[in-house]
Amino acid sequence: MKIIDGKELAKKIRENLKIEVGELRKKGIIPKLAVIMVGNNKASEVYVRNKSKACDEIGIEFEEYIKGNNISQKELIKLIDNLNNRKDIHGILLQSPIPENLNIRQAFNEIDYRKDVDGFNPINVGKLSIGEDCFISCTPYGVIKMLEEYNIDLEGKRAVIIGRSNIVGKPLLQCLLNKNATVTVCHSKTKNIREITNEADILIAALGKPKFVTEDMVKENAVVIDVGINRSEEGKLVGDVDFENVSKKAAYITPVPGGVGPMTIAMLMNNVVKSAKLTLEK
Ligand code: GUN
Repeated sequence: MKIIDGKELAKKIRENLKIEVGELRKKGIIPKLAVIMVGNNKASEVYVRNKSKACDEIGIEFEEYIKGNNISQKELIKLIDNLNNRKDIHGILLQSPIPENLNIRQAFNEIDYRKDVDGFNPINVGKLSIGEDCFISCTPYGVIKMLEEYNIDLEGKRAVIIGRSNIVGKPLLQCLLNKNATVTVCHSKTKNIREITNEADILIAALGKPKFVTEDMVKENAVVIDVGINRSEEGKLVGDVDFENVSKKAAYITPVPGGVGPMTIAMLMNNVVKSAKLTLEK
């Protein structure tokens, strides 16, 4: 069994990006990410702080817009429009969740697809589905990078994703299809899930239920990718996979923490640099 070390790969990606940012700066382009956070959500505060730290390390400028619960949809859209129109900003990220009285889908749709480093705008979602160059949602993109780094061939392989979220499950389906895997997506209404997961050469758990994937659900020598980040009762981070037992059966497995998590931020940084580089072509 081999551990797929997301922490190490993320570090390598960030180091390469730092060099690329140095080159861009020499050409007068300073990559800049704007992050909008609405309301106070403790988890979001941690995520945004980590994104800010990664930007600092790589040389990407970071602008933060922290708005109270009382911001209106109109004001939020206006803020996004202002950022869309600013030439010095290459990436715009609206941290989810936002208060329920606001329409997050409409806000994501408003972000210019050329600055949509989260890959949530329907133009990027559509481009991904037809295999065009686009911004790919950072977590699925990170998963694909990990599989590439470990030379895990996807062509003709059975891939099974558990979870159909817009952020992970659905874009991952497209990414794996683009790599010629045969993909099945399981979700909360799927019957006989164990029979399906047992056929998986590559099994990806992205449903957000601690230790949902148990040993009996995994084929011998499968590749197991754990996207889950859950807090146990003791406050420890646990994935969607029962790592201790599944790791005895898997050929490759990602740990939690230190697996997919660090890759998400690395791919966000990658997307900001990609956006900044695209301005050179204009
Ligand atoms: N909230 C949790 N994860 C994410 C993410 O990847 N992007 C955004 N915008 N919000 C999130």
